[in-house]
Amino acid sequence: MASSWFESVAVAQRRARKRLPASVYGALMAGSERGQTREDNVAAFAELGFAPHVAGNPAQRDLATTVLGQAISMPVIISPTGVQAVHPDGEVAVARAAAARGTAMGLSSFGSKPVEDVVAANPQTLFQIYWSGSRDDILARLERARKAGAVGLILTTDWTFSHSRDWGSPHIPDHIDLRTMLLHAPEAIIRPRWLVRYARTGRPPDLTVPNMAPPGGPAPRFFGAYGAWMQTPPPSWEDVAWLREQWGGVFLLKGVSRIDDAKRAVDAGVTAISVSNHGGNNLDGTPATIRALPAVADAVGSQVEVLLDGGVRRGSDVVKALALGARAVMIGRAYLWGLAANGQSGVENVLDIFRNGIDSALLGLGRSSVHELSRDDVLIPPGFLRSLGG
Ligand SMILES: Cc1cc2nc3c(=O)[nH]c(=O)nc-3n(C[C@H](O)[C@H](O)[C@H](O)COP(=O)(O)O)c2cc1C
Repeated sequence: MASSWFESVAVAQRRARKRLPASVYGALMAGSERGQTREDNVAAFAELGFAPHVAGNPAQRDLATTVLGQAISMPVIISPTGVQAVHPDGEVAVARAAAARGTAMGLSSFGSKPVEDVVAANPQTLFQIYWSGSRDDILARLERARKAGAVGLILTTDWTFSHSRDWGSPHIPDHIDLRTMLLHAPEAIIRPRWLVRYARTGRPPDLTVPNMAPPGGPAPRFFGAYGAWMQTPPPSWEDVAWLREQWGGVFLLKGVSRIDDAKRAVDAGVTAISVSNHGGNNLDGTPATIRALPAVADAVGSQVEVLLDGGVRRGSDVVKALALGARAVMIGRAYLWGLAANGQSGVENVLDIFRNGIDSALLGLGRSSVHELSRDDVLIPPGFLRSLGG
């Protein structure tokens, strides 16, 4: 039997493509409109170079750090995603893998597993919410996450409800019953491993969002919750400050690209921001996050922790992001592909790839700790950087 271990995130992606039904794989790839931002997120990392040393390099490298009040074994944490239908163990498997590798877990409020189960699998869980429903609805979600033991709150405000994709969005059913199973049978039947995983659980994939349930109520279906979110006016900066105050603890605003927004986030009292464009899933044409990071880090990096997510596929990408001002990165598709390829072990495998890649880049750069990285370690080609709203 072929080994289930894989050597790179690219191999995990190929396995995910082979194992998942086309519509599930398509939903993971996402990327809105022409997919320019999604592609730039990845391509921009490849434009950056390194200037390595060949002797006098450190024999041991320290990857451990702290971010968002958490001590973690390396500067890579799990970005929140809805992982419906990728794997029956979903976010619980991801949380266990992150715990096994000593790092933190971001759980989406649109995820497929209850926050209580995810925190039980990884006590270093941060809960992510969207601005959906009334303030009371939002408070109820927040209080549930607090009660469950979430160690921080992530507010994601960059979603633009852009539903047009040049490559054609996959069809995602509202729920999966016998009729939809039969409808999707041709694509599922040619993906037997995926089918077998669900067959073993005795249930079809669950397309509900348990963390959006009203107190004591049943978990709504994904599209029902999505519709309610679409009806909610977007939050103001006062709303952000209000929510931060209600939470009272570690608070990350995810989705910042502009310097002026970063400053307003600081004024709203956040403890951290993530330079993020939702993996290129919303306003297409937004530049790669790594291009926008240095200007944002220069503006607010001394006041709040600055994270980055988008296009991170290898340890050397993490090192580039740290050298350009990030405290840590969050990964999205990389761990989803690992989950699809090999469940919890696949996510651990992805995290090990990141760890080895970071260590190897530190060795080459002659740095003994992730805290020693600086802009001098990276070659930035002319015209690479973008300064938004400065
Ligand atoms: C399938 C998918 C679902 C996502 N769902 C969420 C979500 O529910 N909440 C959120 O804040 N971000 C969500 N994101 C964005 C990720 O948290 C992250 O910003 C993005 O994936 C980073 O880019 P990368 O995939 O290139 O690493 C999602 C991304 C993908 C690919």
